[in-house]
Amino acid sequence: MTTWEKSALLLVGSPRGGKSTSASLGTYLLKRLQERGFTTQKINCRSALKTGESSQRLLAAVDGAAVVVLASPLYVDSPPYIVMRTMELIAAHRKATAPVGRPLFLAISNCGFPEAHHNDTALAIYRRFAREVGLDWAGGLALGAGESIAGRELAEAGGMVHKVRRALELSADALADGEAVPPEAVKLMAAPLMPLWLYLWGGNWGWKRQARNNGVLKSIKDRPYL
Ligand SMILES: Cc1cc2nc3c(=O)[nH]c(=O)nc-3n(C[C@H](O)[C@H](O)[C@H](O)COP(=O)(O)O)c2cc1C
Repeated sequence: MTTWEKSALLLVGSPRGGKSTSASLGTYLLKRLQERGFTTQKINCRSALKTGESSQRLLAAVDGAAVVVLASPLYVDSPPYIVMRTMELIAAHRKATAPVGRPLFLAISNCGFPEAHHNDTALAIYRRFAREVGLDWAGGLALGAGESIAGRELAEAGGMVHKVRRALELSADALADGEAVPPEAVKLMAAPLMPLWLYLWGGNWGWKRQARNNGVLKSIKDRPYL
């Protein structure tokens, strides 16, 4: 294998950067690729978009990678703005320069609602993007209840994420062999992290705690615009 074939790039699409669930998921995958002999690089889209120079570095990194992984949150059923902008830049660059390499492209989308299927539209957008700009679609992984991870390292996030870790390990195996992620990985990633009632109970508890801290617990059910 050449050096190019063993290089992977992670694009973190969360404005939270390194402290995001997107970064947790992508970093775990990058580490598994490192164990399989890959050299890896991680770029936060938000930082990269700050200057023309940093945007150029992102574009060069995409050109230089055999595997590109985008890990991003879901914002209003879609990719966040910084990811849309990053995709626009990559599309314009690849149209203008027609690079020889055709990297594998894996998209990982995580959302706040407990069901993973909310990510379907965003993953369809990523798939279309890959086709338009000449990247080989390696699949899409969707995770629900992403706030349960909240930027923690997956290796330290306990049994709750064991299926997530397994999904990423299977994905690393496939990517290292130059293949798309297997259906088993997609299924494991989409499996609920916890029973629905527990997630809803935790979510309600969190909102009430925030309301209490802000002195508005008693008015939490107000509907001033009715
Ligand atoms: C502006 C905004 C819009 C969001 N829209 C959705 C949404 O449409 N559906 C959903 O399930 N979660 C939505 N979320 C929740 C995030 O997807 C969720 O918190 C995710 O775990 C954040 O991942 P990150 O830590 O990688 O940024 C939204 C969050 C924000 C800040």
